[in-house]
Amino acid sequence: MEFLTHSLLPLHEVCALQQRLSAPNLPWRDGRLTAGDQAALVKKNYQLDPNAELSLAISNCISTALTSDPLVKSFSLVRKVHSLLVSRSSAGESYGWHVDNPFSRNGRRDLSFTCFLSDEDSYEGGSLMIQTGGEDTKEFRLPPGQVVLYPSSTLHCVTPVLSGDRYVCVGWIESYVKAADDRSMLFNIDAGARGLLARHGRSDELDLIFQSYTNAVRRLSS
Ligand SMILES: [Fe+2]
Repeated sequence: MEFLTHSLLPLHEVCALQQRLSAPNLPWRDGRLTAGDQAALVKKNYQLDPNAELSLAISNCISTALTSDPLVKSFSLVRKVHSLLVSRSSAGESYGWHVDNPFSRNGRRDLSFTCFLSDEDSYEGGSLMIQTGGEDTKEFRLPPGQVVLYPSSTLHCVTPVLSGDRYVCVGWIESYVKAADDRSMLFNIDAGARGLLARHGRSDELDLIFQSYTNAVRRLSS
């Protein structure tokens, strides 16, 4: 499995962030400032100044949740969460098809994530589309507080917002395991073994599986 959607932030926390995001006079900047040359041609949105107090608060809250969540940790084998940005897209704004740069000054981009912050009925459009191979795409438009994680190597876009304001926090994960198919294999082994543990309790056979899982992570780490 190369995609994970997950409930990351409790609703009361998202509501408090929504209120702060609706304040006037926040330092919104042209989103093209943080895009590569190719991506800047198709990027039309605004991002909160990453040094603004609210940016730092949202980034902190989401980084902490991602690095402490057992499912996210197993899925992404997170070494660090970095380069978070709070983005706002209003009517007519979108982000065309692009691939994320492999590195930022803060780390390698192995996984990308989008944490949705707006109520789904407060805006129209604004779906995150991700190419899954060939002509196939997956569409994500999630409730507030939910996150989608996906390989940074994929082509993806945000469809035009038709009305309202779409607030999200995007960012990247540097993983201990670089390749998406290796991470996917390890995630399945870990999930399967944990499932067996929950259903049948510990056993000598499970010790062997967990030992092999741990050593496979060790072997595939970079
Ligand atoms: Fe992107």
